Amino acid sequence: MKFQVPKGVKEYLPPESANFELVREKLISPARLANYQLMETAVFEDTGLFTSGVGESTDVVSKEMYTFTDRADRSLTLRPEGTAGVMRAVIESGLDRGQLPVKVWYSGAFFRAERPQAGRYRQFYQVGVEAIGGDDPLIDVEVISLAVQAFKSLGLKDYEVQINSLGDKPSREAHREALVSFLKKIDLDEATTERAKINPLRVLDDKRPEIIAALKDAPVILDFLTKDAKERYEAVKDGLTNLGIKFIENPKLVRGLDYYTHTTFEFVHHKLGAQSGIGGGGRYDGLMEKLGGQSLSGIGYGIGVDRVLLACEAEGINLVPATQLSLYLVPLGEEARKFAIELLLNLRNQGIRCDMAFGERGLKGAMKSGDKSGAKYLAVLGEDEISSGQAEIKHMSDGAVVSVRLTEIADFLK
Ligand code: HAM
Repeated sequence: MKFQVPKGVKEYLPPESANFELVREKLISPARLANYQLMETAVFEDTGLFTSGVGESTDVVSKEMYTFTDRADRSLTLRPEGTAGVMRAVIESGLDRGQLPVKVWYSGAFFRAERPQAGRYRQFYQVGVEAIGGDDPLIDVEVISLAVQAFKSLGLKDYEVQINSLGDKPSREAHREALVSFLKKIDLDEATTERAKINPLRVLDDKRPEIIAALKDAPVILDFLTKDAKERYEAVKDGLTNLGIKFIENPKLVRGLDYYTHTTFEFVHHKLGAQSGIGGGGRYDGLMEKLGGQSLSGIGYGIGVDRVLLACEAEGINLVPATQLSLYLVPLGEEARKFAIELLLNLRNQGIRCDMAFGERGLKGAMKSGDKSGAKYLAVLGEDEISSGQAEIKHMSDGAVVSVRLTEIADFLK
C-alpha cells in the first residue's frame, strides 16, 4: 500500500526546504528585535472559538473549517487562523493582567478547506504577530513596519501596502445602515442576501466580478468615520509617512474575518496572480471581550510564508540559505570512523555545521556523497591523518587543498 500527501497540502522537503526555512526566519526576525515573544498555541481548538471569534458569516467559518468530533464528542477544529487562539490563550493565562501591551509572535501551520490552486493550500504556513492591550496608533505603525522590514530584508520590492479604517462601533453602525439600504436596491442571489443579513460587510469582500461591478457605488466606511476614528486613522497614516513607509488607501478593503475595527491592512504582491495577498491584518477592538475576557484592544497580522516564498521566486530573488554544510568528513576504516564522529561532535559544539559519510562505504562512494552534500570543505581521515594529527582539507569549489592540524580545524573553518 502506497500513500500520498492529502490534496492541497504543501510540503517543503530538502533541498527546497532550506529556502522556506530562510524566509520564515526573516519574517520572524523583526518581531523578535521589537520585543515580541514566542507563543506556541493549540493547533486544534474548541469549534466555538472560531465561530464566535472569526464570525459565522465569513467563508473561513462557514465553508472552510476542518471540524471533527473527538472521542468524547467534543467539536474541535483545526485552526484556520491564529488570532482567536492567541486571544484565548492570553485570557486563559491572564497574560493581559501583566505588562501591556502583550506582544507575541507565532509561526506554524493553519488549515482551510479551500479549493487548492497556486499559492492557495489547505495546509499553509503563517508567521504572525499580535500586540494586545494598547490603543496607541504608534502600535499600529510598529506592527505594519515589522512586516515591511521583513519584506525588505528578503529583498522584496514588487508589492504594496494597502490600508483602510473600519472605524469604531458608531462608525460601523452608520456605515452598516447605509450599506444595508444600498444592498436592498440591488439584485443579489439568496446565499449572498443571507450573508449580508449576518454581516453586510462580507458582501464587500466578495471577489466575484458581477458582485464587484454591482457594488461599484456602494457606500464606503471612510465616509462614515466618527471624529475620533478619523483622527486615529490620520495618526496611523502620519506615523507610516514619518517612517517613509509607502501605502495606498483602499476604502474597499474589509478583510475576510469579522473581528476587524479601525486600522486594517493588506500586503499585496503584483506577481502572484489571483492569490496576491502575502499578508494582512488589523486592529480588533471587542474581540477579547467577545471571547470572555476584559475589554482590551489589539492589533496584529498574519503573513503567508508559502506566498512570500513564491513572491521571492517571482521576483527572481536569490535566497542564500544559511544551511550550507561547512565540512564533510570521509573516514577510512573503523578507527577513523570512531575518531570522525567524535571530531564532528566537538565541531558542532562550536557551532560548526558538519557531517560525515556513514557506513562502510568505499572511498569513491563516500567522495561522491561529499560532493552531493554541498559542503564547503571535505577531508579524508585515514590512519595516517590520525597518527600524524594533520589532514588535507579540500575547498570544494576550486579544489584547493590546505594541510590543517586536526586540533585546529575549528579555527580554520571559522
Ligand atoms: P488572513 O488574511 O486570513 O488573516 O491570512 C493571512 C495570510 O495568510 C494571507 O494574507 C495569506 O498570505 C495567507 N493565507 C491565508 N489563506 C491561505 C491559503 N489557503 N493558502 C496559502 N496562504 C494563505 C489572518 O489569518 C489573521 N489571523 C491575520 C491577523 C492577525 N489579523 C490580526 N492579527
